[in-house]
Amino acid sequence: MERVLVTGGAGFIGSNLVDALLAQGYGVRVLDNFSTGRRENLAAVLSDIELIEGDLTALKDVRNAVDGVDAILHQGAVPSVPKSVQDPLTSNNANVTGTLHVLVAAHDAGVRRVVYASSSSVYGDQAPDAAKVEAMTPQPISPYGVAKLAAEHYMGVFHHVYGLETVSLRYFNVFGPRQNPSSAYAAVIPKFITMLLNGQPPTIYGDGEQTRDFTFIGNVVAGNLHALTAPAPDVAGEVFNLAMGGQTSLNELVAYLQRITGQAVEPVYTDPRPGDIKHSRAAVDKFRQAGFEPSISLEEGLRQTVAWYRQHAVVD
Ligand SMILES: NC(=O)c1ccc[n+]([C@@H]2O[C@H](COP(=O)([O-])OP(=O)(O)OC[C@H]3O[C@@H](n4cnc5c(N)ncnc54)[C@H](O)[C@@H]3O)[C@@H](O)[C@H]2O)c1
Repeated sequence: MERVLVTGGAGFIGSNLVDALLAQGYGVRVLDNFSTGRRENLAAVLSDIELIEGDLTALKDVRNAVDGVDAILHQGAVPSVPKSVQDPLTSNNANVTGTLHVLVAAHDAGVRRVVYASSSSVYGDQAPDAAKVEAMTPQPISPYGVAKLAAEHYMGVFHHVYGLETVSLRYFNVFGPRQNPSSAYAAVIPKFITMLLNGQPPTIYGDGEQTRDFTFIGNVVAGNLHALTAPAPDVAGEVFNLAMGGQTSLNELVAYLQRITGQAVEPVYTDPRPGDIKHSRAAVDKFRQAGFEPSISLEEGLRQTVAWYRQHAVVD
């Protein structure tokens, strides 16, 4: 069976990928510097994986982690828009230079395939009412978006120039178990769930009619496994949106979560946040044509997520 390196494997998405790979019989190695990743996320699998504590910005750490693996799921990044605004150099080092290190090391070590966690942020806020299609010209509006896009271009070029099988997946608003609800940059779903479970009102910036294409982690994991195993002619050198293709407003989201948690606490509305985009929705036809269909509905994903937060009190 193949050996797979998961960079950022101690993080929210990476650790869920680690569990799925192990369940499928892959050998798994993790590279993480534990900047936002948590040791608890790997506690249950520590004896089943190789854990390398190291940094994507250090080429020797990356070469060490890549040595002997067949494929890489590259999730490691400084994954925050506001952090990239405060400190664009750190964002660029981890997200662009770190990705280039992964690609150089992968090429030199004869790795077969690299799958990269890109982001809907590459689109920026163009055409707010239209579904985002991969063929659109990206127009990032944050240093984070620029970095994710630059890394995507490196992925494409390493396929084009060196024949490495690279696949970039643009994730849209991922949610699910292990997502941190308590950081200053926490995403909306874990924040809302923990507020409701504590009987406190969630805060909505603006009128709550802004919409997102919320994507359950189970679908992101399945999409990565598809990108890892699909025939090269279907996916290599390509960029795909990884999302549901849905459009859910924050008001609808609160209503779902009130129903699932049984907490009827009403949200508090406050001023819109500058820079927030109104609508973000993916066209999902391209990845569908390459054989991938997300199978877990938003409501089922929210149910599983609420169940997880009921059992795990997460502190920062
Ligand atoms: N969560 C989302 O909705 C979302 C959306 C689009 C894209 N993404 C991308 O998915 C990936 C995973 O994000 P996540 O939500 O799981 O975030 P996360 O913070 O939980 O995971 C990121 C991981 O990378 C590690 N890391 C950061 N810098 C590193 C470095 N220099 N060297 C080694 N490890 C480093 C962190 O310790 C952490 O374990 C990121 O690339 C992110 O940009 C996430």
